[in-house]
Amino acid sequence: MAKNFDVVVIGAGPGGYIAAIRAAQLGFSVACIDEWKNDKGGPAPGGTCTNVGCIPSKALLQSSEHFEHAGHAFAEHGIDIQSMQLNLPQMLKRKNTVVKQNNDGILYLFKKNKVTFFHGRAAFAKAAGVTYEVLVSGATPETLVATHVVIATGSNARALPGTPFDEQRILSNTGALAMDAVPEKLGVIGAGVIGLEMGSVWRRLGAEVTILEALPAFLGAVDEQIAKEAHKLFLKQGLAIHLGVRIGSITAGEGGVDVAYVDDKGAAQTAHFDRLIVSIGRVPNTTGLAADAVGLKLDERGFITVDDDCRTNLPNVWAVGDVVRGPMLAHKAEEEGVAVAERIAGQHGHVNFNTVPWVIYTAPEIAWVGRNEQQLKADGVAYKAGVFPFLANGRARALGDTSGMVKVLADAKSDEILGVHIVGPMASELISEAVVAMEFRASSEDIARICHAHPSLSEATKEAALAVEKRALNF
Ligand code: NAI
Repeated sequence: MAKNFDVVVIGAGPGGYIAAIRAAQLGFSVACIDEWKNDKGGPAPGGTCTNVGCIPSKALLQSSEHFEHAGHAFAEHGIDIQSMQLNLPQMLKRKNTVVKQNNDGILYLFKKNKVTFFHGRAAFAKAAGVTYEVLVSGATPETLVATHVVIATGSNARALPGTPFDEQRILSNTGALAMDAVPEKLGVIGAGVIGLEMGSVWRRLGAEVTILEALPAFLGAVDEQIAKEAHKLFLKQGLAIHLGVRIGSITAGEGGVDVAYVDDKGAAQTAHFDRLIVSIGRVPNTTGLAADAVGLKLDERGFITVDDDCRTNLPNVWAVGDVVRGPMLAHKAEEEGVAVAERIAGQHGHVNFNTVPWVIYTAPEIAWVGRNEQQLKADGVAYKAGVFPFLANGRARALGDTSGMVKVLADAKSDEILGVHIVGPMASELISEAVVAMEFRASSEDIARICHAHPSLSEATKEAALAVEKRALNF
């Protein structure tokens, strides 16, 4: 017998599970459907972020950073380690435990908020008047009837044409998080967020990592000064990064992977790797959704077409997160999920795309919000810049991590903060202050006049704000 719900959410990644919880908080009867399976075949809600993205990568980034510190940085702190070795199975086991804790946490939140969870794949069956029939093909097939449907089916790794992922030699983010041995030579195609994060993990664990990037500029979306500094630091750490390459044939076999490419000088090159990570972006996932059955419109790149408020072409059908336009970030998906639930309730859900922060979890971390210098120049905006290096920050010196800087960009006339860009320790945490400031349309002087704890890394943000008016106190 069909089960009726006010809201059916398809996908339990950050966009979907948060939309489901918010809708339940607002008093709706809510179902959430997700097909992800753990290694025992049980439900593993949380999507790419929880299972093969944000969460496991941060677990491995932390573990590999500890390993690197123990090997290289502890001696300076007066900690001598006689013998040290990598226990990769334990490192991967810990990562899997962290993932499971997050899966279980979401199932607990569903129970707490009275969201009914269905484990299986969802597909539209038909539109019936103002409601939709959604089929769940799991262990127990179900038919759900929904007044509102929220699609949050996420994205999949994009493969190079003719080179499918086998997750043994040719790895997507999934295989990159689960290698059972440290490869001697690891190739990475794409110097984006995943390439740099995964390249860093395996380099720290002992792999010789080579990253091949198509674009001539390193991290083209990042403020040039910050990208330049990060590039310098990554090269110093031992990542080999080749920019402006054109990938040719890729041959994978028992002995490894051979990659032919043309370098930035037009010379033909070949490289041999034990394994190859392909991280060249992601594609929206609408597989099996039966969009045609109800006439759901997709654009030419496969994204579900939505308006600014995440409404699809169908009444009462919404879509959020990676499967629609905009940055493929878990926190952007969450914001859209909350806003859609509130719109269904007749409220005025709102997402400010201008204050969505970005973070790359390398060491040092890179984080930013708002526009960078090259964008301001292109937009013809007159601005002032204030930069403060962590080298002059007491807490960074005590931590032994003085690389990088904070940069504040403010409107030349009004002093409103237009962008904040950080490369340095804990940039992921420091950027929050800038997001709050920009959300409240603060001026650089506002940050400069706020009391910041001493000694703390956040003082670098205050000093960068002071530097906008050329009155930094410690530099
Ligand atoms: P990306 O878009 O960050 O980087 C892809 C890179 O591959 C680009 O630099 C691009 O120029 C390059 N590329 C594309 N085609 C190429 C080719 N044929 N040969 C060589 N290079 C090529 O994509 P990535 O790293 O795969 O990540 C996917 C998504 O996941 C991104 O949207 C990212 O925002 C998200 N993500 C976010 C994280 C975070 O917030 N910390 C962590 C990991 C992923």
